[in-house]
Amino acid sequence: MDKPRLSVVETQAAAVEQKVVRAWTEFEPYAGAGGRGRGFETLRERERRFHELLEALPTAIYTTDENGKITYYNQAAVDLWGCSPVLGSTEWCGSWKLFWPNGLPMRHDQCPMAMALREKRPIRGMEAIAERADGIRVPFIPFPTPLYDSAGALVGAVNMLVDITDRKRAENQQALMIRELHHRVRNTLATVQAVMRTTARASATIEEFEEAFVGRIDSLSKTHELLTENFDQAVALATLLSNELDAYDDGACQRVRLKGPPVELPSVLAVPIGMALHELTTNAAKYGSLSMIGGVVEVTWSVRIESGARRLHVEWIEQDGPAVKPPTRKGFGSRLLEHVLARQIGADVTVDYDPDGLRARIIVPLPR
Ligand SMILES: Nc1ncnc2c1ncn2[C@@H]1O[C@H](COP(=O)(O)OP(=O)(O)OP(=O)(O)O)[C@@H](O)[C@H]1O
Ligand SMILES: [Mg+2]
Repeated sequence: MDKPRLSVVETQAAAVEQKVVRAWTEFEPYAGAGGRGRGFETLRERERRFHELLEALPTAIYTTDENGKITYYNQAAVDLWGCSPVLGSTEWCGSWKLFWPNGLPMRHDQCPMAMALREKRPIRGMEAIAERADGIRVPFIPFPTPLYDSAGALVGAVNMLVDITDRKRAENQQALMIRELHHRVRNTLATVQAVMRTTARASATIEEFEEAFVGRIDSLSKTHELLTENFDQAVALATLLSNELDAYDDGACQRVRLKGPPVELPSVLAVPIGMALHELTTNAAKYGSLSMIGGVVEVTWSVRIESGARRLHVEWIEQDGPAVKPPTRKGFGSRLLEHVLARQIGADVTVDYDPDGLRARIIVPLPR
């Protein structure tokens, strides 16, 4: 992925470099003649045009004499360096500080421009980082090229610095995403294993196992799909609820009632909360209000600020279903709600087997 981007930069750089070197070739006979050959006015005029051309380029460009003292720089170079070097005094590069790509300090007399002058060859394929006085670091690709007079003597060099901040930012973002992806894949596999083991333990028959296991994996994969669809890797709580409960809704919002403000859940919360909602829904359909015509599930939620922290309160209330008896067994659903949520996301869960209908309250600390 890097290659084509680099080659775009390099192609643009080559085009700019051609312009600069062509302009120099045009300009040099006058400069070389010290203005005596064809008249001082012509030299001045050529120099002005040469600098005008460099100034118009949106890329940082500067020149040095054969000893590395800076003789010219354009505005784009000032913008990149964050300072204006002293002409005829500042050496090698106008930046305040320089670093190698690995973050180690680079001495100015070791910089690519110094290398090009010392070794009398264009330097390509290097990267460096300039630190400005305000502390901002700008990664760049330099293109230092020695310049010669018509007699072939080295008279200085021209350097172009291509700011690659955007490319580096995209690369860092990509590396972060890949790390996050690996992390999520590992977590998901661990979850699938745990779900499989616990479902197997709680199932009396293979068919029972298959039904519960497939339902849980389906729900998990839906949450992941929602996370991938969303650019900011978050899912709305209402969407997670709809995902689970829409199948039981009668279309008139009589059986399933959802009420609460928009709340976006990051992936660390969305996956376990999605699983918990799946367990509550499945239980409601197996034993609770959704197992009977006329039964209702009402879910309300709010975000409250408590002791300076944001907390999500979710109330799950079942009504008009069969009379609820205290459970005689605890399966995967109870374990997930009562233990896993507390351990994974610090949630506080209370399940009340009220004879009129199950009630569950989940309180989850939200990120700042
Ligand atoms: N909504 C509900 N209404 C009435 N009883 C419920 C409800 N949810 C759970 N229960 C009771 O609580 C018990 C434990 O539920 P839990 O989800 O832990 O296990 P399970 O559903 O039986 O098995 P698993 O979740 O492993 O498939 C259930 O067997 C049921 O008796
Ligand atoms: Mg259950």
